Amino acid sequence: MTKKLYISTYGCQMNVYDSARMADILSPLGYALTNQPNNADMAILNTCHIREKASEKTFSELGRLRNMRKAKQTENDGDMIIAVAGCVAQAEGAEIMKRAPYVDMVFGPQSYHKLPEMLAEATRGAGQVLDTDFPVEPKFDYLPDDAIDKNLSAFLTVQEGCDKFCAFCVVPYTRGAEFSRPVSSILAEAKRMLAAGTKEITLLGQNVNAYHGLGPSGKPLSLAELIQELASLDGLERLRYTTSHPLEMTEDLCRAHRDVDILMPYLHLPVQAGSDRILEAMNRRHTADQYRRIVEKLREYNPDLALSGDFIVGFPGETDAEFQDTMQLVRDVKYAQAYSFKYSPRPGTPAAALEGQMIAEDIKSERLAELQALLNEQQLAFNRSFEGKEIDILLEREGKKDGQLIGRSPFMQSVFVQSPPHRIGRIATVIVEEGNANSLRGKLKSGDVADAA
Ligand code: SAH
Ligand code: SF4
Ligand code: F3S
Repeated sequence: MTKKLYISTYGCQMNVYDSARMADILSPLGYALTNQPNNADMAILNTCHIREKASEKTFSELGRLRNMRKAKQTENDGDMIIAVAGCVAQAEGAEIMKRAPYVDMVFGPQSYHKLPEMLAEATRGAGQVLDTDFPVEPKFDYLPDDAIDKNLSAFLTVQEGCDKFCAFCVVPYTRGAEFSRPVSSILAEAKRMLAAGTKEITLLGQNVNAYHGLGPSGKPLSLAELIQELASLDGLERLRYTTSHPLEMTEDLCRAHRDVDILMPYLHLPVQAGSDRILEAMNRRHTADQYRRIVEKLREYNPDLALSGDFIVGFPGETDAEFQDTMQLVRDVKYAQAYSFKYSPRPGTPAAALEGQMIAEDIKSERLAELQALLNEQQLAFNRSFEGKEIDILLEREGKKDGQLIGRSPFMQSVFVQSPPHRIGRIATVIVEEGNANSLRGKLKSGDVADAA
């Protein structure tokens, strides 16, 4: 009998990748995914610790699951195994077990390949199972061959963890030290993905451009070299990578944006702040001008290149003038898209100890609103700049309206077009008719329409 598996995923794309792999691992044990938690036989929360709000959701969602489990039990409808995975599990494993004694399993991002064993232990009635080790053998070596992302546009984790220790960030503590997968294992996974129909691969890593995995000749390859290897695979039409740190934007990687056709001209390159003093306090280890120069160089190599970024407002001690330096940097760089956050103190990080310098919540809110207004303006201007122009989109799925498909531009914009559904999976040229805040609308170029018949 198939059992129902519910997975709720918070946080970054690495968690999205991990959640899908957990489903792959559990499928041979008879678990099939459901998007309804109330009648699940097993529920996994794949959590994120990056900001307080994200982290708090863990306990509120756990409360809901506990009630659903109770309802199942009183209705004699079986039981529900409850598991907490991801970065909150890693950071606060023991605390979760204490605060939520009804949780059966708690495991970190580096140990989910042991799910079948943990599950056996938990269902044997051995009590709560906790695994937050950073194992010597990486989980990738234990994933079954069919544990791959089979989407048209799919994720492939190539690097995990972080050694950068930005003063505000929990990732080095929750994901552990930087680790790069060997080239051979990445190529093998990519080939399986392409055989399953994937057209676009996004290489993932907390610090993906610090990649230095073991190459075929015994020497490590850089991300640029890995990109070259992947670009030669048959059937791969688009390649992306995320997230990058400015310090690792090496010459060869910048040049890859000129030389590698299938590398999309779109880069997520977080800068966090525009003031040199704040950047230093954040331990980012570069100045605002160094970041500007990296962007200039990238645009020299590829004038089409568009950028997205992450920003933090209200880092401890940030003055109005320093916040204005961030605004100026945004004006100078011009982003196609961006995420911005109010600084959130995280337990155990150096910035959280700067108690006397915390910025008031209302000031953080004001700064965030000012920054987001500018970023939204830039995003709209970017999207509008495509009106009347042609772009290639990867047709990914059906839209809500009749006969509508949604495709993805090279710059990650969602593009709405009218097209028959059998064209999903193809790259088509569209003429953009309208650029909106969050998407584009266009029509297929005439040649493309004719062959659609
Ligand atoms: N590895 C990536 C980002 C990982 S976290 C990098 O180096 O850029 C994603 C984003 O969350 C960060 O870029 C940062 O903008 C934000 N973030 C991280 N810690 C935060 C904190 N304590 N408060 C607010 N935002 C935070
Ligand atoms: Fe966090 Fe900095 Fe590492 Fe990014 S580079 S994951 S912000 S410590
Ligand atoms: Fe969150 Fe962990 Fe990703 S803290 S952002 S899920 S690495």
